[in-house]
Amino acid sequence: MESANFPLFTIILMTLNIQKIRADFPILNREVKPGVQLVYLDSTATSQKPLAVIDAMDSYYRNSNANIHRGVHTLAEEATKLYEDAREKIAKFINAPSARQIIYTRNTTESINLIAYTWARANLKAGDLVILTEMEHHSNLVPWHILQAERGIELEFIPVTDNGLLDLDVYKTLLSRSPRLVSFTHMSNVLGTINPAREMIVMAHAVGAITILDAAQSIPHLKVDVQNLGADFVAFSAHKMCGPTGIGALYGRLELLEAMPPFLGGGDMIKEVKLRSFRTNSLPYKFEAGTPAIAEAIGFGAAVDYLNSIGMDNIAEHEHEITEYALERLEEIPGLKLFGPSADKKGGVAAFTLEGIHPHDVAQILDKDGIAVRAGHHCAQPLHEKFGIPATSRASFYLYSTKNEVDMLIQGIYKVKELFA
Ligand code: ALA
Repeated sequence: MESANFPLFTIILMTLNIQKIRADFPILNREVKPGVQLVYLDSTATSQKPLAVIDAMDSYYRNSNANIHRGVHTLAEEATKLYEDAREKIAKFINAPSARQIIYTRNTTESINLIAYTWARANLKAGDLVILTEMEHHSNLVPWHILQAERGIELEFIPVTDNGLLDLDVYKTLLSRSPRLVSFTHMSNVLGTINPAREMIVMAHAVGAITILDAAQSIPHLKVDVQNLGADFVAFSAHKMCGPTGIGALYGRLELLEAMPPFLGGGDMIKEVKLRSFRTNSLPYKFEAGTPAIAEAIGFGAAVDYLNSIGMDNIAEHEHEITEYALERLEEIPGLKLFGPSADKKGGVAAFTLEGIHPHDVAQILDKDGIAVRAGHHCAQPLHEKFGIPATSRASFYLYSTKNEVDMLIQGIYKVKELFA
């Protein structure tokens, strides 16, 4: 089984200069209140942004602001080039065969909805089976609930085991029912579980199903090669990978994207419009209606450059080290229950409950010491229901996280326990 194992040679290669990296993120220097330094442990919700990204967006507005694909003047050409160069960078980052296969969207949610509104509505009918998992984010549940209500498709779910892994035996059984689509998260935003995506995609293809990979949490943290994975569609967001909010991407296999009907109608997605008809533009513009998020696309490209400059293997290894340390320390705390698998099978996420204390209280008290964690169901209500809890507190780590920050979290949790003792 493919997993997040970290070979020894990466461990030896890994020497991230964390202080240098932290200096790239101006926000990490701020005090949340006088004398209280920010300890940002909420990168799974959104990552912080390095100067390189902030500067790229600032420079676009200061120097090159113009609409794209619409003008021949210097600014329009500059803006178009910056926007399209970013698409090329994103394509290379995930090893897409061509930038035509990268559709800019607003975020992962919109990418999945785009497939649901185009490919799925063109291809799925009543009774067709769609396989999801119990660990999905609402973004990969609700679009299919809507289609179920509208079309009568059938939904089945790969169960999550007690230790936070997908039950692949049940998956095998579900595959014997000839699903049309298998859509699943590469990395859980709650459990941190890194699912064996390649293996699952090969299994789905063997029974003729199309696959969607929700890579919102994996692409920021691991090297993801869409050709190696073989996924038909891959959805991700810029804001979780050091880029801005308001922009994401959908990668799709060329023949699928070519055959799909358009999504939103309007400028840029058309080749020709008559009073009573239109012809769609070629890829990727066919799915990009209206003036897009230009500065954000440029920021997305700068984020990819930034991550490349650090190296995705180095980032993954650093996060692994921090996560392993965090899990070890969290496990020592009496009354604390951790969710998800061991560090070798997960990314930098630690969701937990503290006996007798509501996760929101935990987060609020930690905030007094500047420690930012998320509390709630993290847009994965069914997963929390499965574990019989309404919410968890969640600390999450990224390339700029330190062991010292983990120590502060641990101290903070002990303080919470004292307050509620
Ligand atoms: N999906 C994001 C999270 O897990 C917002 O916090």
